[in-house]
Amino acid sequence: MSSASSTQVADVDQDFINKVLAKHTAQQPGSLLAILQEVQNNHPRKYLPQEALGYIAARTGIPMSRIYSVATFYALFNLKPQGRNTVCVCRGTACHTRGSRDLMEKLMMNLGLRSGEDAEEQLSVTTADGKMTVRTVACFGQCALAPVIEVNHSIFGHMNERMMMRELEAIDKQEGRS
Ligand code: FES
Repeated sequence: MSSASSTQVADVDQDFINKVLAKHTAQQPGSLLAILQEVQNNHPRKYLPQEALGYIAARTGIPMSRIYSVATFYALFNLKPQGRNTVCVCRGTACHTRGSRDLMEKLMMNLGLRSGEDAEEQLSVTTADGKMTVRTVACFGQCALAPVIEVNHSIFGHMNERMMMRELEAIDKQEGRS
């Protein structure tokens, strides 16, 4: 590893990344995942800027191609800035048959986001004001609770429109206070 830098360049908090790297042996299995997760969680917009990936590559000697393939393979990593809140709707078969598509449409409509063909695919779309990101996931592994959505990292099973709207109202209230 090269010597630690203590500058902040563009969108990258190098001091924080240096601290994270000091905790992990980057070449150990699983370390790269943990490093990327911590760096993403520390970013106010919960994503991994290209500069951060490049910095991690330079500091650890891990090829950028490997870092990039890990960051793009796992759904938990974001390469674009995320909203201050996230709602993730499961589009797996169990959830789909129990109404997740309707939940998705209601959610998109409520937030003024475009629904349509994209709703069938893996989706990540953020409102223009940065308040909310809506994502889809292939399966939360909680199929017995279908339909399942995740709101700001909390899983909600047996979801219906009324419950979902209540969660959105809670976010609105929270945002109004901050
Ligand atoms: S299909 Fe939705 S949790 Fe598995």
